[in-house]
Amino acid sequence: MTTPSLASLRTGFWLLGLLALLLWSQLQAAPHAPKMLAPNQSCTQGSCHKEQTQFTHQHKSKQGKELCRSCHTPVRANRHKFKPTTKGQASCIGCHKDWKPSHTKRKHWRFEHGPVAVGACQTCHSPHGSNQPHLLRRTQSELCTQCHSEMVGKQAGLHKAHEPVRKAQCLTCHESHGSPNRHLLRSNLVQRCLGCHTKIKNQLANVKTHHGAVLRGQQCMNCHTGHERRHKAMLQRADAKLCLGCHNQSVVMQGKKKLINIKKHLATHKFKHEPVRKGKCIACHSAHGSAHDKLFVKAFPSMLYAAFSSETYALCFSCHASEAITQKQTYQATKFRNGALNLHYVHVRRKKSRSCRFCHDPHAANRPHLIRDKVRFGGWNLHVGFKSQSRGGTCQTACHEPRTYNRKQPVSQGYERYKKLLTAPHLKKRTSPKP
Ligand code: HEC
Ligand code: HEC
Ligand code: HEC
Ligand code: HEC
Ligand code: HEC
Ligand code: HEC
Ligand code: HEC
Ligand code: HEC
Ligand code: HEC
Ligand code: HEC
Ligand code: HEC
Repeated sequence: MTTPSLASLRTGFWLLGLLALLLWSQLQAAPHAPKMLAPNQSCTQGSCHKEQTQFTHQHKSKQGKELCRSCHTPVRANRHKFKPTTKGQASCIGCHKDWKPSHTKRKHWRFEHGPVAVGACQTCHSPHGSNQPHLLRRTQSELCTQCHSEMVGKQAGLHKAHEPVRKAQCLTCHESHGSPNRHLLRSNLVQRCLGCHTKIKNQLANVKTHHGAVLRGQQCMNCHTGHERRHKAMLQRADAKLCLGCHNQSVVMQGKKKLINIKKHLATHKFKHEPVRKGKCIACHSAHGSAHDKLFVKAFPSMLYAAFSSETYALCFSCHASEAITQKQTYQATKFRNGALNLHYVHVRRKKSRSCRFCHDPHAANRPHLIRDKVRFGGWNLHVGFKSQSRGGTCQTACHEPRTYNRKQPVSQGYERYKKLLTAPHLKKRTSPKP
């Protein structure tokens, strides 16, 4: 073996040096191996990471400082190499312990949105920036319906859906992260409903009688659904079922007064007033509130006595002809008469009229013609003592000595004051009253 000459060794070194220089310069020019920046230098300076600065909404601190290094921690200060970023909630929650005051504070949450609970912040937010506000990955409506397609899909009956649902304005009613309320409902939901439903808002602002159902608990959501149109007016249940869901007990009013248990009352009284039988509670009561007592849709006296006018009893006269009360003599307008003398007129049509409630129960009774057994008179139960007969009836009550009336052959006993009114030859006779 011959040892290499000094000259060849020298050329070898030269070649190696050249190679190293070439390699080094190559390395310098390589785009994938930038020199690590000083900590105060921007990651997006010059042409670096331009792709992360193209968004309308950048994930930046208020002072405009980059956040790159808080998520991408360098492995070593002088190397362009980073620890793997965590995708979990921890990386976000470190800075976003809570949300802006427009959202419920975390400590008040009782319900957390599925993806938030598992820390998947990034399913909705992009960590770098976005062309949508709040760094959202899509428009708000696309975002929600991406996972909850059934809410706006065919199943929900798109054309029939509640307008804000159809338009996927989900955040009108829901929180995006967490809420103290079931279904992530916003706490000031009523204000949101009334924001669009100004007619109801004005109605509520001007009512005299408020309905506890609107003021308490789930408020609007006590009766309505947010999405579904199973029943008219998006009600949870139809007709009387809705009302009897709460009025199946003796509801206590704000002033401690107890209301009767309507459900029990209906179950224990045989004859039901027709609108009640049909479940039309709202034919007489307004569900939201009313300018009249007891949520009546039209005037009706809540006292036992009231000065008579057709207006006073507008509620009843919206379905029943007022002539049943106002005609002094009649053979047609009512069956509550002795011969031609209208006994409704006698009782009701006067300065201090007896309210219909004195004799009738507006919901149901165990006697024909909705006649009550008894009526609350002060602190006392006054018995009405009514008996129906083929051509009239009898009342044995504390109001007066027993009285009988007969439509065909007027009774004179007890009717001395009305003697001249018992017959009316000038009037046409007909036994059946107008409806
Ligand atoms: C809030 C945390 C966070 C901040 C702030 C952040 N990143 Fe990222 N970055 C991530 C996550 C997480 C990934 C992993 C990819 C993904 O899931 O989108 C990532 C991925 C990357 C990637 C890999 C390529 C890609 O787009 O997936 C680059 C490059 C990058 N970030 C650069 C930057 C720069 C530059 C900044 C500052 C302008 C920055 N990042 C700020 C969290 C962050
Ligand atoms: C190093 C701290 C830090 C980390 C980590 C961080 N952020 Fe941020 N984030 C900020 C700052 C600072 C702002 C701007 C402050 C502001 O506008 O209130 C901001 C703004 C936001 C905004 C926009 C607020 C708006 O209304 O426009 C969203 C959304 C957001 N961050 C989500 C995230 C998510 C998701 C993560 C985890 C992937 C995350 N942040 C991680 C500090 C951080
Ligand atoms: C289901 C999608 C979704 C998820 C998951 C989600 N967010 Fe949001 N986030 C939103 C929406 C939508 C908005 C903007 C609308 C709003 O204000 O509610 C928002 C707004 C924000 C804001 C800006 C508003 C504010 O109050 O500061 C921050 C910060 C934020 N989110 C952080 C987070 C963090 C941190 C996580 C993970 C713990 C997360 N988000 C998970 C949908 C989501
Ligand atoms: C990444 C998928 C995803 C996205 C995006 C998403 N959600 Fe959800 N959401 C879920 C999951 C998972 C649940 C929990 C599953 C369940 O309870 O049925 C949930 C639950 C809910 C609930 C509560 C259901 C209940 O009965 O308690 C509401 C309300 C809701 N999401 C509304 C929204 C809104 C509003 C948006 C848009 C800001 C949104 N979601 C975006 C996945 C998502
Ligand atoms: C007008 C208010 C309102 C709007 C707008 C609204 N919701 Fe709801 N959402 C509710 C109410 C109230 C409930 C509770 C159940 C009920 O009474 O219908 C609910 C329940 C839910 C539930 C859980 C119950 C279920 O049936 O699974 C999900 C999920 C949900 N909403 C998602 C959405 C999404 C997604 C959007 C947007 C497309 C949206 N909501 C828009 C009011 C609303
Ligand atoms: C963004 C505006 C908006 C908000 C918020 C809103 N609504 Fe509506 N709502 C409408 C419009 C518009 C209609 C009529 C067209 C329709 O039915 O979609 C309507 C219809 C209704 C109806 C009548 C449906 C019928 O069949 O007659 C009810 C009941 C109702 N909304 C209740 C509510 C309740 C309760 C809330 C709060 C949880 C609410 N709305 C929030 C816009 C809104
Ligand atoms: C006690 C049950 C109940 C409560 C509580 C309730 N509603 Fe209603 N709402 C009804 C009933 C019953 C109807 C149907 C009335 C009709 O058909 O005349 C209705 C009808 C409506 C309608 C459609 C008809 C119209 O007048 O425009 C809207 C809108 C509405 N409600 C909104 C609301 C809002 C907003 C709230 C909360 C402030 C609310 N409701 C609370 C029972 C209720
Ligand atoms: C969510 C439970 C709930 C539902 C559903 C409900 N109510 Fe009520 N209702 C109440 C409460 C509570 C009160 C006591 C009111 C108060 O405290 O001011 C009340 C009171 C009343 C009163 C007496 C008001 C007064 O000032 O004397 C009437 C009449 C009435 N409701 C009728 C109805 C009708 C008709 C329906 C169906 C459309 C209905 N309620 C559905 C809870 C309900
Ligand atoms: C034909 C008209 C009419 C219909 C229909 C009607 N109500 Fe009434 N309601 C009245 C009248 C009149 C009063 C006052 C009667 C009284 O105080 O004796 C009243 C009183 C009430 C009260 C207060 C009771 C109390 O103790 O002060 C409630 C609650 C009530 N109704 C609920 C209902 C419900 C529920 C329905 C449907 C099942 C209904 N009403 C159907 C006329 C009606
Ligand atoms: C929504 C319409 C409606 C309203 C309002 C209404 N009623 Fe009736 N009422 C009817 C119908 C329908 C019948 C059954 C047909 C008939 O006998 O006229 C009836 C029957 C009656 C009967 C029994 C008749 C019989 O001989 O069996 C009495 C009594 C009565 N109503 C009293 C009242 C009183 C008192 C009021 C006011 C508090 C009132 N009604 C309000 C529709 C109504
Ligand atoms: C003093 C008791 C009494 C008062 C007060 C009273 N009614 Fe009657 N009403 C009766 C009797 C009894 C009948 C049954 C007549 C018969 O068929 O024999 C009757 C029958 C009716 C009928 C069935 C149709 C008819 O006229 O025969 C209606 C409707 C009616 N009343 C409505 C009212 C209304 C509305 C008021 C209040 C404005 C009222 N009543 C006040 C005792 C009364």
